[in-house]
Amino acid sequence: MLTGKTVLIGITGAIAAYKICEVIRMFKKENANVKVVVTPNALNFVTKTTLEALSQNPVAIEQFNIQEYKPEHIALTDEADIFLIAPASANTIAKLALGICDNLLTSTFCAYKKQVVIAPCMNTNMWENPATVKNIQTLKKRGIDIIEPETGFLACGTNGKGRLADINVIYETVKIKLIPNQYLKGKKIVITAGGTVEEIDSVRYIGNYSSGKMGIALADTAYRHGADVVLISTVETQKNYKVINVKSAEDMYSAVKKEFENAHSLIMAAAVSDYKVKNKSLQKIKKDGNPLTLELIENPDILKEISSIKNKNQIVIGFCAESQNLLENAKEKIIKKGCDFICANDISKKDIGFSSNYNELYIIDKELNTYHIEKTDKLNAAEEILGKIYGTGK
Ligand code: CTP
Repeated sequence: MLTGKTVLIGITGAIAAYKICEVIRMFKKENANVKVVVTPNALNFVTKTTLEALSQNPVAIEQFNIQEYKPEHIALTDEADIFLIAPASANTIAKLALGICDNLLTSTFCAYKKQVVIAPCMNTNMWENPATVKNIQTLKKRGIDIIEPETGFLACGTNGKGRLADINVIYETVKIKLIPNQYLKGKKIVITAGGTVEEIDSVRYIGNYSSGKMGIALADTAYRHGADVVLISTVETQKNYKVINVKSAEDMYSAVKKEFENAHSLIMAAAVSDYKVKNKSLQKIKKDGNPLTLELIENPDILKEISSIKNKNQIVIGFCAESQNLLENAKEKIIKKGCDFICANDISKKDIGFSSNYNELYIIDKELNTYHIEKTDKLNAAEEILGKIYGTGK
């Protein structure tokens, strides 16, 4: 989930520093790159070796690392997608509120412009001290997310507020900020991609120019938004979600039928061949000087078949590629196929659609309302299509 994301974790001198070791492991398990910056006092509570072994990165401690041309605190700010400071002591919180830069952690914070999450941890009296209360308010007003400490047994032997928040809460708070809105969580979405291959003989086939890019962009985007994605594709691709490779329309139909049974929806982005060869030859067909006639018979219309068996809670979305009278044909097609939405694109435009990285589409619903998606790259188009059809849940 967090591949490609860098989480910078700032650790200050507080007893709960040891708990952050587990948080580092949680981020590593999700494939995040974890960088750790510590105040000198933090190393009284947790060792540099432990932090380096868990994060698999050098721990940043020194303010002036002369081995690097770029000042360390600036290098860290450039790289990190989010800065988590946990546990944050009363002393560090005060410095952060005032803009003091007396160590690498505080200097990094001062130079950092992206998202910051702070999880304080201290004795109850320190937490309730008017200076700390004001410092926390100052940081909150600047848009910094404070994960309030818990009430409970404290390391100083008292009971009260000040204990570091549960590490799962800390982890989830940061994670949710790094990954897009999970509005498709809990929904199984089956998506088809690519052009089907209808064999003529052992070496030849009937195909089409579909690259599968739109279907794969939809699958990637649905996955990023939390969907349980099944991609049924004629284009081989390796993903973190389930991919079923198929060739012919018949193969695709069998896979779709099986996967759709317990799915929330189906998106038919594949270019399915309408016809297949009636008697395909197992051997390579040899030329014999005579014209060759291939008899073609119709393939199942997957979109139409699935639309006719779906239950009332399931959604079926079709695509249609037209070279003329785009909206008119698309509207006819949604009625003919019985699906819930159709995404129509004009294949006469060479800069969009087939094989291109771009698309311009119209989404049409059952009431024939039309929504235009202007020319954009296929990932953005996928965001817009899914947002429009499923609602972003915001
Ligand atoms: N489709 C399908 N099964 C087929 C043919 C098409 O499921 N045998 C789906 C496509 O995946 C797409 C939609 O139907 O979502 C429309 O495809 P398109 O090729 O535009 O429509 P056709 O039904 O083939 O109509 P025509 O070629 O006559 O325009």
